[in-house]
Amino acid sequence: SQFALNFLDPSFIPLTHALNEELQGKSSKWKFNRTAFYQQRYYDYVGYLHKYVFSINNNLKSLLPDASPIQNKHYNVCAVVGNSGILTGSHCGPEIDSADFIFRCNFAPTESYYKDVGRKTNLTTFNPSILERYYNNLLTIQDRNNFFLNLKKLEGAILWIPVFTYHIHKTVNLLITTLYHIIFLNSRNLLHLYWKTKNLSLKRLSTGILMYTLASAMCEEIHLYGFWPFGWDPNTGKELPYHYYDKKGIKFTTKWQETHELPSEFKLLYKMHGEGVTKLSLSHCS
Ligand code: CDP
Repeated sequence: SQFALNFLDPSFIPLTHALNEELQGKSSKWKFNRTAFYQQRYYDYVGYLHKYVFSINNNLKSLLPDASPIQNKHYNVCAVVGNSGILTGSHCGPEIDSADFIFRCNFAPTESYYKDVGRKTNLTTFNPSILERYYNNLLTIQDRNNFFLNLKKLEGAILWIPVFTYHIHKTVNLLITTLYHIIFLNSRNLLHLYWKTKNLSLKRLSTGILMYTLASAMCEEIHLYGFWPFGWDPNTGKELPYHYYDKKGIKFTTKWQETHELPSEFKLLYKMHGEGVTKLSLSHCS
């Protein structure tokens, strides 16, 4: 099983010991360490931004907002919600909704999952491949209506679209801009640089850790939910799906092995949790 596999990985064992203690009630003792958080937050790196300059055509320019919708935006407590199956049955919805600003990943559904993941979304990443995967590339009117209805539910939220790395269909672009503020950011290089200083050198950062990084520039305190890239529940040992919204019967996939190194990211976030930099929720919310 996945559980056994993780135990076979020697680097995973110390984490599991600490985790057991954590899950046996210690997590309520988590204390925010503001000094440590300030030392690591991302805004120190904004100075590097001038290194990455892109040329864009007029068409794209006309779609861009005049100013970044997150410019000078500051929030007290932010929730960053990853999509792990650990959220299922967590009852963390109300706690997540009590945050001042909520980041989500990949247009993840909330509607049938309010209890566990909350209702509010202030910013969600939107990778155009979502259109291919869930909306049949908007080929039929039905597909478009479907997509449009789901967009409408997010009204007022910011969509974070990786515009320079993927091709976006023009109509979709227009559709989105008429409804939303959009941030176009391509700061992957920058973010890699940032995490390198934390000894996290990865080929590709996951969406979740990108959102954490963005949050650290905008928020005074960050709480993480749905970050658990393993196929078993640390509280019960039972099997977990990869995503909280995966249909029953879909087995945990190790798809991250191809694109991400989520366990390394997790270990770092877990360490930061221990240092009081960010709060990582791994058990049920009371
Ligand atoms: O595929 P991608 O990394 O873009 O994201 P996803 O599967 O939609 O999940 C969003 C984020 O949640 C991931 O990038 C991870 O940071 C986190 N996640 C996790 O920690 N454990 C999981 N089982 C699933 C997602």
